[in-house]
Amino acid sequence: MSDKQKAKRRIAELRAQLTELADQYYVKDQPTVEDHIYDALYKELVTLETAYPEFQAPDSITQRVGGVVLAGFEKVTHEIPMLSLGNAFNKEDLLRFDERLQKITQQPITYMCELKIDGLAISLKYENGRFIQGATRGNGTVGEKITENLKTVKSIPLKLHEPLSIEVRGECYMPKKSFVQLNQEREENGQEVFANPRNAAAGSLRQLDSKIAAKRNLSTFLYTVADFGELVATSQSEALDQLDKIGLRTNQERRLCGSIEEVWTYIQEYQVKRTALDYEIDGIVIKVNDFRTQEAAGFTVKAPKWAIAYKFPAEEAETIVNEIEWTVGRTGVITPTALMDPVRLAGTSVARASLHNADLIKEKDIRIKDHVMIHKAGDIIPEVTRVLLEKRPADSQVYEAPTHCPVCQSELVHLDEEVALRCINPMCPAQIKEGLNHFVSRNAMNIEGLGPRVIEQMYEKELVKDVANLYILTEEQLLTLDKVKEKSANNLLNSIQNSKENSLEHLLFGLGIRHVGAKAAKILAAYFGTIDHVMQAEKEQIIAIDSLGEIIAESVVTYFAKEEVHQLVEELRQAKVNLTYLGTTPEEIANIESPFKEQTVVLTGKLTHFTREIAKEKIEALGGKVTGSVSQKTDIVVAGEEAGSKLTKAQQLGVAIWNEEEMVRAIERSTIHE
Ligand code: IVH
Repeated sequence: MSDKQKAKRRIAELRAQLTELADQYYVKDQPTVEDHIYDALYKELVTLETAYPEFQAPDSITQRVGGVVLAGFEKVTHEIPMLSLGNAFNKEDLLRFDERLQKITQQPITYMCELKIDGLAISLKYENGRFIQGATRGNGTVGEKITENLKTVKSIPLKLHEPLSIEVRGECYMPKKSFVQLNQEREENGQEVFANPRNAAAGSLRQLDSKIAAKRNLSTFLYTVADFGELVATSQSEALDQLDKIGLRTNQERRLCGSIEEVWTYIQEYQVKRTALDYEIDGIVIKVNDFRTQEAAGFTVKAPKWAIAYKFPAEEAETIVNEIEWTVGRTGVITPTALMDPVRLAGTSVARASLHNADLIKEKDIRIKDHVMIHKAGDIIPEVTRVLLEKRPADSQVYEAPTHCPVCQSELVHLDEEVALRCINPMCPAQIKEGLNHFVSRNAMNIEGLGPRVIEQMYEKELVKDVANLYILTEEQLLTLDKVKEKSANNLLNSIQNSKENSLEHLLFGLGIRHVGAKAAKILAAYFGTIDHVMQAEKEQIIAIDSLGEIIAESVVTYFAKEEVHQLVEELRQAKVNLTYLGTTPEEIANIESPFKEQTVVLTGKLTHFTREIAKEKIEALGGKVTGSVSQKTDIVVAGEEAGSKLTKAQQLGVAIWNEEEMVRAIERSTIHE
């Protein structure tokens, strides 16, 4: 077989395997392999497709990264209109709905209860099993073609398990966690925040550059078959089961109910459970299950008569704004927080709400002593919805945003296109302290025992002005701090010492370069290998790396062009902080000879030779995977002193158990061929 034929065959194999793995992960929510295995296969496929572009295919899993930039969205006519639903707000509304239907059927009705996902309605068309078109609802008759953006949504299969020609509909949404993270990033970058996950999802799908949509971590639940094609079903529950079978993601919280009483129980149950779900819902959709009964019930012009949406009451509370506090973040953005009389809202007591930026305060005209309504965006983040003007005190004054930094008093600026106010004084104590807090945080240098209070003191006592100073701290200096005794001083020095051996990505992330998150830091570290190479990198070189874009490239180059950054790196070098990448690339794994290669290892108990973090890095550098809990998949458990339940579990499961000495020897015995 020629190389070309081999490549073709391997590409087909990889696509099938990756599609299967992605289906398990994104559609069924049941991953079967560790992420790094998936990543290695994915990378192999990208390499082959790049080498043999003639075998590239539009439905290859690698086409999900986006990159198509449109001038505008084409219009799409929905041959079968996308209807909306009538609403129910209480039990009486539901009883009336049930009564009307029973009049038609003359018998009890089985209902399918589904969660009403708070996202954006979408329609997906498949031809011979291939995803050919995705559209928004629009006005119900004409929507917009957003195929390229939807291709980046990983739970939407590019190919069905069967070669069907069908049209399905559902909801595209942003998980709560992603919403919170996205808004946090936007706030840090001085951008406007999204009011709720639905707006965030809509904003993402309206991007003309699909690369942006690809980064937004959207997901889908499908709930209607508009055009069945060859698919056969006689009820909603059968239809949803069929969707599951052909690889389309449906929501698994659905339930068949034999009466409206049962429906009511379901509604009450989910009114409580909704906060624990990782996506936002705004109610329950109740549908007649049997398709023949649906047909008999028919439609009004706007909505089916066989379905209704029960809307949860809005969770709002009234309180009073007593003060507006401004804090300076790591990047100099200053954000306002409303300090309010505490009130209970959706299960917690709320006394603070982010106001995000000065424009928002102006827009909502929020003033001190105003009565306001608050709600939780994405079910999590308390926010002021509106001011109760009728309760505003007569002497109230328009709130003026500060013009100077609350910490260093330098004048604040509004940078181009930003909504945020920024303190641009690089010596601003608040920024420096936040920068230090970030540097020691878990995903960065992971220096335990260095909390915000210790950092505050170190800064005030002028022991530490930049991150390099941490590495020249002495025990004597630490002992001058409040509540620091010999033991904690030593622990701290140890943690600081240990952090010197971190792989480069920790440092790169810890430096707090704008737009460089933990993931980008890892990609940069793995690609360039050393900090010197990152420092010398040109913008084009960085842009050329898969999954890094212009914004990150620009930011990295600007950061490392600064003289004070060069000096900082030199200080770190002198302090013997590791400046190289210690991880392993997939190509290198092939060259490893080690008992840890491709083994899943759990570390437990106290280790004396090195910290767990370092042991983990060493094992990972040798092609092993270190996980946190013992399961059937674990190959080796390394048990240090005082190992507890993990050791017991390993014994029960018959997993190989090593002591620390054995681990150290195995590490020493391992070799990596050049
Ligand atoms: S069925 C013809 N089921 O709610 C029936 N809709 O108020 C079409 N929605 O536009 C809708 N979750 O965007 C249905 N499980 C679900 C839903 C759902 C969310 C949305 C959908 C629709 C709106 C109707």
